[in-house]
Amino acid sequence: MLFDRIEAAPLDPVLVSIEQFAADPRAQKVNLGVGMYYDAAGRIPLMAAVRQAESRVQARLANWGYGMSEGLAPLRTGAAELVFGADAPAIADGRVATIQSLGGTGALRLGAELLARLAPGAQVALSTPSWANHPSIFAAAGLPLVSYPYYDRATGGLDWPGMRGAIAALPAGSIVVLHACCHNPTGVDLDQAQWLALRDLMVDKALIPFLDLAYQGFADGLEADALAPRLFAATDLPLFVATSFSKSFALYGERVGALLVVTRSPDEAANLIGQCKNSIRNMYSTPPTHGAALVGEILGDPALRALWASELETMRQRIHGVRAALYERLAGIGNDTDLSFIVRQKGLFSYTGLSPAQMIALREAHAIHAVADGRICVAALNEGNVDRVAAAIRAVVGAGAFG
Ligand code: LMR
Repeated sequence: MLFDRIEAAPLDPVLVSIEQFAADPRAQKVNLGVGMYYDAAGRIPLMAAVRQAESRVQARLANWGYGMSEGLAPLRTGAAELVFGADAPAIADGRVATIQSLGGTGALRLGAELLARLAPGAQVALSTPSWANHPSIFAAAGLPLVSYPYYDRATGGLDWPGMRGAIAALPAGSIVVLHACCHNPTGVDLDQAQWLALRDLMVDKALIPFLDLAYQGFADGLEADALAPRLFAATDLPLFVATSFSKSFALYGERVGALLVVTRSPDEAANLIGQCKNSIRNMYSTPPTHGAALVGEILGDPALRALWASELETMRQRIHGVRAALYERLAGIGNDTDLSFIVRQKGLFSYTGLSPAQMIALREAHAIHAVADGRICVAALNEGNVDRVAAAIRAVVGAGAFG
């Protein structure tokens, strides 16, 4: 029979964590697994800008007919301006191809499909570690994978010499996947001087940057977090950017994102959009319209955009606050391990260094769920749970070592 051969498929660790959390009957359970931002009351926020955009979209609503395969125009324009800046020469020259996608994952996969078509056999270099879904997205498109060092366990920071050396050794035409900010899972980012040096190195070696920008606004602010795409867009390199509005608009389930590709001419951009429309038609025909209408409405209206940006800034600052709170409450733990990385790391995650066994103990004994590699979503901490989380971490570390 057909299904006799069916085997259980391995789940990615973030999905494992989502399922384990959902199945946990304990009332006091805490979800530090999947990357979602929660407010101080522990709720996924419905942003005021989104609420206002919703009533405007509803008031104008005639129907929910099909959209275009490449997505809604206001969303596409707004995404390009947010990533590259409204006055970016590449936008003015018509060289940016923007395609609405099913979240950041959809943008990565669309870009991977394009690359597999344009550069079959080109290898894709991923950071060690990287987001658990990155390898399977690029492998599913048929591209071979290699890795470059990124995280330095000893310092809880960046292995810059290792990263630079490995990227310098890649053959020309290799695709380098880089987390533009808020590296997932480590929260460790390049500084400005490192981005400049990396940009120059990649120009020199003719490497193709593919930036994952899922967390714009959560590291140092909306403009500062766009440094990497803007630096690369000013070069002659082809540039791929996968952006997501899941986190920055708290629209996770709406699946709104965009793939942006910087080409050399409007003709190339038009052809590239055509290639993507072809892939989209083969997979899901047209993207959903509701979430994209909300994001497009907000990004296209100066007052709504300002309201949204201020709400996002409040979210960013709250994360800084809970990082500091966790750090304070863990003082002295693990034979005085230096945990200052908790406040230095950027974005929704902290890579704690807790071992897989300690992570299992957190879940089993304390109902605190996170990813087995020690990544915790600090954006789910608040004054109501940080004491309990810190006490649980203290309990699993005990008199032993942190990690
Ligand atoms: C995460 O890493 O938790 C997020 O990017 C959500 C996901 O789909 O994995």
